[in-house]
Amino acid sequence: MPRLRRSAVVEDGPLRGSIVEVEIGAPAHGGSCVARHDGRVIFVRHALPGERVRARITEDRGGTFCRADAVEILRPSVDRVVPPCPHAGPGRCGGCDWQHASGAAQRALKTSVVREQFTRLAGIDTADLFTGVQALPGGLLGWRTRIVYAVGPDGRAGLYRHRSHEVEVLDACPLGVPGVGDAGVLARDWPGLSGVEVARGDGGVAVLAHRPGPGRQARGRRPPDRVEVVAGPTRLDQRVGQRDFTVAADGFWQVHPAAASTFAGSLLGAVAPRPGEAVLDLYAGAGMLTALLAEAVGATGRVLGVESSRRAVADAATNLADLPWAQVQLGRVEDVLPDRPPIDPDIVVLDPPRAGAGRSVMAALLGLGPRAIGYLACDPATLARDVRVALDAGWRLGALHAFDAFPMTHHVECVALLTPDSAGT
Ligand SMILES: C[S@@+](CC[C@H](N)C(=O)[O-])C[C@H]1O[C@@H](n2cnc3c(N)ncnc32)[C@H](O)[C@@H]1O
Repeated sequence: MPRLRRSAVVEDGPLRGSIVEVEIGAPAHGGSCVARHDGRVIFVRHALPGERVRARITEDRGGTFCRADAVEILRPSVDRVVPPCPHAGPGRCGGCDWQHASGAAQRALKTSVVREQFTRLAGIDTADLFTGVQALPGGLLGWRTRIVYAVGPDGRAGLYRHRSHEVEVLDACPLGVPGVGDAGVLARDWPGLSGVEVARGDGGVAVLAHRPGPGRQARGRRPPDRVEVVAGPTRLDQRVGQRDFTVAADGFWQVHPAAASTFAGSLLGAVAPRPGEAVLDLYAGAGMLTALLAEAVGATGRVLGVESSRRAVADAATNLADLPWAQVQLGRVEDVLPDRPPIDPDIVVLDPPRAGAGRSVMAALLGLGPRAIGYLACDPATLARDVRVALDAGWRLGALHAFDAFPMTHHVECVALLTPDSAGT
């Protein structure tokens, strides 16, 4: 789920604040487009490929690139639309990146980004394999079932401006589902809080207070917030197909209402589990994929999940109670894998956080010798980097799908199938 990140304080550079006139090129990963000026790359937000714009430099650290906002569109793209949210635009809310693009154009931009990441980081051309980013049902607005609103020093809630600690105060977010986008939390002040989170499940809407955690972390970063439910249910019910799940209100669940069933369908379609097979489900959360994999392999099979959150493991035990051949084990993937997990998997499925699995986890799971690896990824860059590890070890990319589960933002979810080279020839 897109969460707005607080970045380092922006430093002044020679170009900061100046206006340049540029031709806009291809989209870059992160919600901007690439332009060039005086031999330097400029990442321009609020622009679209093919446009000519005047752009204000917002960040120049003196390196090879700077950042800018398009402030005047001299030659608009046919894909340009009026942003539906009054808070979208240069210097305003940082929650969205592509409000000024049509839905079809947003998916084309993300398709281009996925292809480019695989070319650059995995070293392969995916043109034959990857047909493009697919829309989820429900349109561009009203899909976020969870939003962490930021709270400013004055106690007012909104969303962070792009690469800023400043809060754009909101009275509604059109991306939110009812009860989340128009949450009553936006109508009052929250003094002393760093954020106020609203999450909706089948059974209601939970409000969670974020208080600054104690201490400091490396490089001046904020320690994790202390999060506590202050109104509504402490647990949220979720349904995928015919199956019900229960998840702690502050636990992980896919944010778009159609995401869990779409991703699970795509992933299971790719790895095609057979009755009696053994599956390792890494980064298992509350057991959503674990349960669906367990149904697919049946009682003669086995599914073992690995998850580092104690609370998610407890939720998974509840969610898997009727599937005794499936469990989620508490532990960090990077600690469990080198010890060889207690099953010999036919299939490995992984759904890591944004940082991806990383080289050593990828090497360890390739070493388990499964017949298929299904990788669900919320960042195409870390996915492509991890796929490269498999390709270098002689594996092949058998399928690549991508879904626009986060419309208006630059985020895109991918599903990749990896198979040992011999399996595909
Ligand atoms: C993207 S969520 C996926 C959850 C689940 N597959 C689902 O679809 O609901 C990633 C999960 O990985 C867990 N996690 C993060 N780092 C981990 C690690 N090093 N080892 C094991 N689990 C980890 C998080 O707690 C979170 O539940």
